[in-house]
Amino acid sequence: MLQGKKIIVGISASIAAYKAILLVRLLKKNGAEVRVVMSQSAKDFVSPLVLSTFSNHPVWIDFHENNVWNNHVELGLWADAYVIAPATCHTIGKMANGLCDNIVLATYLSARCPIFIAPAMDEDMYKHPSTQQNLAKLQSFGNQILSVNTGFLASGLHGEGRMAEPEEIVAALIENIGRGRGWQGKKVLISAGPTQEAIDPVRYISNHSSGKMGIALAEAFYLQGAEVTVIAGPMALKPTFSGIQWIPVTSAKEMEQACLREFPSSDWTVMAAAVADYRPANRAEEKIKKKENTLTINLEKTHDILATLGSQKRPDQHLIGFALETENEEANALEKLHRKKIDAIVLNSLKVPGAGFGINTNQVTVYTALGETHSFGLKHKDELAHDLVDLFQKWT
Ligand code: CTP
Repeated sequence: MLQGKKIIVGISASIAAYKAILLVRLLKKNGAEVRVVMSQSAKDFVSPLVLSTFSNHPVWIDFHENNVWNNHVELGLWADAYVIAPATCHTIGKMANGLCDNIVLATYLSARCPIFIAPAMDEDMYKHPSTQQNLAKLQSFGNQILSVNTGFLASGLHGEGRMAEPEEIVAALIENIGRGRGWQGKKVLISAGPTQEAIDPVRYISNHSSGKMGIALAEAFYLQGAEVTVIAGPMALKPTFSGIQWIPVTSAKEMEQACLREFPSSDWTVMAAAVADYRPANRAEEKIKKKENTLTINLEKTHDILATLGSQKRPDQHLIGFALETENEEANALEKLHRKKIDAIVLNSLKVPGAGFGINTNQVTVYTALGETHSFGLKHKDELAHDLVDLFQKWT
């Protein structure tokens, strides 16, 4: 996702500098070309040899070496992005005030590309008004300040100030410089995960949906430039990218309300959620006590959200459903496609080994209202999501 992108990693002297090794590795894994600059004192925290090995380039620490100038101006012009990780309190202060006593700072002042700053320090230092003022100043210059995490700090204290994890830094870079444009200007709505239907204040009816396929689709659309909103049932997973709008809901009713609200402004809608078909007709106000040997709960049908959206769909909108079947797969999927008046249905069969709930892989067949059939082999849900988005693009 960062294929061919040129990225400079600038390291200042913080204990978090060891994470720069993982950052460089991850950037390389994502296809980026990486160059590293570091301050003299950062060498106390991380070995330049490790960084040069992983980046496949010499690490620049001084303005010159062996009578040759390390041309930071050229490096700054070369880059598509410069990420300073970790950025210490002192480095942030110097950056905010245009000081330039090392190569990390000189490269910052020379660079014309987007700049990402990942602060790392103790909580009190981070929260100090001078640090906050410096960060606000750097942000006002157009730099992107990455959020710090809360947790164990090198000081022994617990609090805010931990550097963003390498995965979070890479996600921010992908989000800012790695997105395609194929779906730019398109609004995509995705429902994902299960719904929970309350029996009483402590119990509910639900299903095994993990939300993985819905999130994979949301990320695939987003990486192709779409504006993406996810209406998400209760799930542990969250999308990697902060730019994906996330609307959490619990019940089928809440999901329906959110879908009806968002649908009119969406160009594409994909109902990947495993919406409950039935809910308890009456939710008990108090916890149901264990008195009898058997308990009967009356269930009532929920509204079919997809069918409702199908009846409201404008000709300029595209609406895709999912079908989860355990028997007569094709016939059932085609029946849903026509009854719900949608453009296409993605059939998952729980009978296929490696496909279905909770796991990372899936195998699907797409049937369209125009009579086309597209089959995809068993693959990782992320890869499948990209294939589906590419297929949908052909219909735009
Ligand atoms: N769906 C929906 N609202 C519901 C039930 C399902 O919007 N109350 C959507 C799902 O998100 C999916 C599609 O309808 O996109 C098909 O869901 P599925 O569970 O396979 O089918 P159902 O219509 O619920 O029919 P059945 O359970 O009888 O197979």
